[in-house]
Amino acid sequence: MDITFLLNGESVALKDVPPTLTLLDWLRETRGLTGTKEGCNEGDCGACTVMVSDENGHAAQNACILFLPQLHGRSVRTVEGVAAANGMLHPIQDALIQYHGSQCGFCTPGFVMSMVTAHANGETDYNDQLAGNLCRCTGYAPILRAAKAAQNAPVPEWIANAPQIATPSADPMRPDSADALAAIYIKTPTARLVAGATDLGLDVTKKLQNPDPVIFLQGCDDLKTITDTGETLEVGAMTTISALRAAVREDFPAFTDMLRRFASQQVRNAATLGGNVANGSPIGDCPPVLIALGAQMTLRKGETRRQLAVEDFFIEYGKQDRAPGEFVERFTLPKTAEALRVYKLSKRFDQDISAVLGAFNVHIKNGTIIAARLAFGGLAGVPKRAAAAEAALLGQPWTRTTLAQAQHALAQDFTPLSDMRASADYRLGAAAELLARYFDDLAGTATSVLEVQP
Ligand SMILES: Cc1cc2nc3c(=O)[nH]c(=O)nc-3n(C[C@H](O)[C@H](O)[C@H](O)COP(=O)(O)OP(=O)(O)OC[C@H]3O[C@@H](n4cnc5c(N)ncnc54)[C@H](O)[C@@H]3O)c2cc1C
Ligand code: FES
Ligand code: FES
Repeated sequence: MDITFLLNGESVALKDVPPTLTLLDWLRETRGLTGTKEGCNEGDCGACTVMVSDENGHAAQNACILFLPQLHGRSVRTVEGVAAANGMLHPIQDALIQYHGSQCGFCTPGFVMSMVTAHANGETDYNDQLAGNLCRCTGYAPILRAAKAAQNAPVPEWIANAPQIATPSADPMRPDSADALAAIYIKTPTARLVAGATDLGLDVTKKLQNPDPVIFLQGCDDLKTITDTGETLEVGAMTTISALRAAVREDFPAFTDMLRRFASQQVRNAATLGGNVANGSPIGDCPPVLIALGAQMTLRKGETRRQLAVEDFFIEYGKQDRAPGEFVERFTLPKTAEALRVYKLSKRFDQDISAVLGAFNVHIKNGTIIAARLAFGGLAGVPKRAAAAEAALLGQPWTRTTLAQAQHALAQDFTPLSDMRASADYRLGAAAELLARYFDDLAGTATSVLEVQP
């Protein structure tokens, strides 16, 4: 595949790039740019962080799970491109030196890139911005001090005014619209679709797979739109988790709060809602929320579209209702969920996959429960509603007695598995406690949870 992008401000045109060559491998092995480090090679440590810029602004991303064709038409900056051409350091680099923010230094380029991106975007919540960067020897306090010390310095002109890239050439495997995607996918239904590659990247770097052919969705701007119709939010499948987090803040604040804990800044900037649903994982964070909302999804094959409730997409573990050549186009989220709450349980506050996630949406009228959607991730082979628990709520008064009945009914709904994240008993017990938390939350009672605060 032929691609064009900017690397540290200079245009790079490559021919016949293997589609699943990662930016990290290319930088280090072909360009000799070894400042970008390889730690985990799976998106967890941030040592490989680079800044990717396009018309939507600057975003930190992990180069280890970013395939080169995803950069087509965009600009990437590595740690080698952060200081000025004359060697003058970026204020973040200066501050890291001054505040002793680097010891062995292995993590430092990744921190620099996350901090430079946050600085360029005017973001100052460093617990959030740096949650995807691990440091094992300096300790985080000096790094945070350096970030704060540099935050009011002006964004250097060579970062702020990144040169624009000329309109790049087209390739059928890199469609630039949903129509073009539909046309090529129906012709090559065995192709793997690459959205953000935060799942697919690991198939390459960890499972050593070589998916071929692949179709890159990055250029389909019409799959990135979010439209508010008044009654619904129409969210394109290529909407990143970062963009989703901002877009649902007003209508579903509990969803936004949970997305703060979806992976890390770098992963959220690449990962898409479509990928989070289409991968069929039983522990994806968005599916239970979409199910609790009663969201619909639009699947498209060629010119044929069909609507499906998100809950019906998940048939059983590893099996979804999606035909060869069919892709997820968009999601429709009804805006009728004032009582939506979302609780994610994982061992770490940041950058961790859920053990259990509960998303609850109960409607109460004159003290009686008239509708209930209780959706869980991590309790079955698919994200799933708790039908028996919902039945225990319907038509009943919203009281602790009713709550106890719903908690009891959860055992009919789920027979969870034990794995390294949590035991079956823990999962079921925790699910019941999440319902209690929901009850207290709606009653305005402060819940005593030992939750790490950001
Ligand atoms: C370090 C790390 C932390 C993570 N933490 C979390 C977390 O906290 N919570 C969580 O839920 N997930 C987490 N993930 C998993 C991953 O980030 C999400 O599942 C993400 O939403 C996947 O989206 P993507 O765009 O990267 O998908 P991709 O990797 O590009 O694709 C995933 C799958 O979906 C298919 N696909 C993508 N888009 C479409 C479409 N429009 N139509 C049909 N098929 C499609 C692809 O072909 C592929 O099979 C984490 C991943 C990493 C690496
Ligand atoms: S090497 Fe660890 S996130 Fe990329
Ligand atoms: S300075 Fe050694 S890992 Fe951070």
